[in-house]
Amino acid sequence: MDPLVKYYSAPSVPACTPDPGLNDMILSILSLTMSDTHALSTLAERIWHHHYDGIISLEQIDYMLAQRYHPLLIQQQILNQDIWWRKLVLDEMMIGFSCCIRTGKPDELKIDKLYIHCDYQRKGYGMLLVADAVETMRENNLRSLVLTVNKRNHTAISAYQRYGFEITGDSIVDIGGGFIMNDYLMTMTDFTRWRK
Ligand SMILES: CC(C)(COP(=O)(O)OP(=O)(O)OC[C@H]1O[C@@H](n2cnc3c(N)ncnc32)[C@H](O)[C@@H]1OP(=O)(O)O)[C@@H](O)C(=O)NCCC(=O)NCCS
Repeated sequence: MDPLVKYYSAPSVPACTPDPGLNDMILSILSLTMSDTHALSTLAERIWHHHYDGIISLEQIDYMLAQRYHPLLIQQQILNQDIWWRKLVLDEMMIGFSCCIRTGKPDELKIDKLYIHCDYQRKGYGMLLVADAVETMRENNLRSLVLTVNKRNHTAISAYQRYGFEITGDSIVDIGGGFIMNDYLMTMTDFTRWRK
């Protein structure tokens, strides 16, 4: 896989709040490499503890981090052709990431993870990772883009609606350890923004 996916220059980031000092910075979306997995795991831990506090219990946060973000697990996933891990790098610093997976349904891609560091949210960076997911979907001749989101994660739900997703169902899953993920299923129904 080509490790270099895209380079963006910060001034053209959509919906970017003008930020003095950002102009000379280089923003890139790159495929995650084996050597990134520890840094990604640490970044996920920071974002999850900050963001999910008050949405799910601390015990569930730690349980889900251990279940999903162990560096060895991510390394195995990098080798899987049906999983696409990306890192969002601002200059030399990883500030976000996404992971898309082909689901069991024909033609369907799921954004399984989408996270931006709390200091960098609402600058259009999440939108860039969604644009990348739409491109992955198209490049692999898939036609449908879905995700699940915690029903209490209101800011993420607003962001997804802004990107063209709609709530299309419930996703309530027993993830073991006595924990349940009580999510909405969202499906991208409006591709207008993502015209080629
Ligand atoms: C959800 C997330 C990926 C969105 O990425 P982002 O870079 O912050 O969002 P964008 O700048 O692309 O924002 C797009 C739109 O989403 C909505 N939005 C984003 N953050 C919001 C917030 N805190 N409050 C209300 N609306 C918000 C807005 O409509 C925004 O458009 P606008 O700024 O033009 O009004 C990011 O905020 C994040 O990582 N959040 C914490 C972790 C999380 O919940 N991840 C999703 C797990 S399913």
